[in-house]
Amino acid sequence: MKLFDVYPLYEVCPVSANDVYVYDEAGTEYLDLYGGHAVVSIGHSHPYYVNRLKDQLNKIAFYSNAVENPLQQELADEIGNQSGLHNYQLFLCSSGAEANENALKLASFHTGKKRIIAFKNAFHGRTSAAVAVTDNQNINAPLNQQQEVTFIPFNDLEKLENELKKGDVCGVIFEPIQGVGGLDIPDDDFVTGMNTLCEKYKSCLIADEVQSGFSRSGNFFAFQQNNIKPHVITMAKGMGNGFPIGGILVHPNLKPKYGMLGTTFGGNHLACTASLAVLEIIKKDKLQQHAKSMETYFRTKAEKIKGIEIKGRGLMLGLAFNFEVAPLRKKLIYEKNIFTGGSSNKNILRILPPLTVQEKHFDRFFDALENLL
Ligand SMILES: Cc1ncc(COP(=O)(O)O)c(C=O)c1O
Repeated sequence: MKLFDVYPLYEVCPVSANDVYVYDEAGTEYLDLYGGHAVVSIGHSHPYYVNRLKDQLNKIAFYSNAVENPLQQELADEIGNQSGLHNYQLFLCSSGAEANENALKLASFHTGKKRIIAFKNAFHGRTSAAVAVTDNQNINAPLNQQQEVTFIPFNDLEKLENELKKGDVCGVIFEPIQGVGGLDIPDDDFVTGMNTLCEKYKSCLIADEVQSGFSRSGNFFAFQQNNIKPHVITMAKGMGNGFPIGGILVHPNLKPKYGMLGTTFGGNHLACTASLAVLEIIKKDKLQQHAKSMETYFRTKAEKIKGIEIKGRGLMLGLAFNFEVAPLRKKLIYEKNIFTGGSSNKNILRILPPLTVQEKHFDRFFDALENLL
């Protein structure tokens, strides 16, 4: 049987990994500044994480959401402790798109309305409503185009209010730091203004923290840079360090009803254990603070390169060049053995390493860049 060929592949085949390194069959070591797309948070194959998963697998890996699973409450408590959002409610699922799909659905259930406001260059996933609020027509099938979505630019509060005034908007979804779109960050005033306007017009504000959440930005959630209380917060990638898990945090004003949301796999024993292990390591190794200090180090080094813009925050960073970076990324992989990320803005090289990345790893990256540019 052939694989359904939807991914253009680099000719690299990792077979093992350790912290910020991955290794191919020949034993070649690659420095992973991509984190498998911002997924690897506490480092590849972290021994504590591996052991916790092994222990859990030996006890029970899965049972359905029809029975009690205390690991879900443990995870909710620890997310509450680390984010400070103790009074929110946790619903667990298995991916970023699913988290956004549930958030959008919840906004619609709660308000009884159905139009969504999303932003230019947004990426929210590939399921029905999530892809409809993604600003890329190429990945929207005719089926997805039946959703009512209006795209507006960041930082235009007047335009946002004009749309909300129409009274049919159930939710406004935004990425506090755009990922795939190219690391743009909405202004602080705009973010607080959005929250106020959503309250005023009875729409839900949804913060998509699928990529920026779980300490990657230097805060637990990137939106916490601003004093806002989104109605729904979505999370996934860094949550499980590679184990598929996603979730939404729901504001206390939004009330649950039996059957409103559901999933077979979401919140299973292994997924909760993976995420609990991630949270324990983030806390023990102070990875949130480390993300901030590594950003400072990265910026100091990057500022020495002429003619580039440094984008993003924490360990969700990018370098915007005045040329397309695809050939440079290839050279970084094949000649320097360094993984980096791309963006829908073809001039941006993205840096999304495990949060355990150290100065010496960035030194190696900047030496490689200097050599290739
Ligand atoms: C901000 C954001 N939201 C949602 C998603 C979709 O997540 P998933 O691929 O787990 O469905 C992504 C994936 O890149 C993302 O970056």
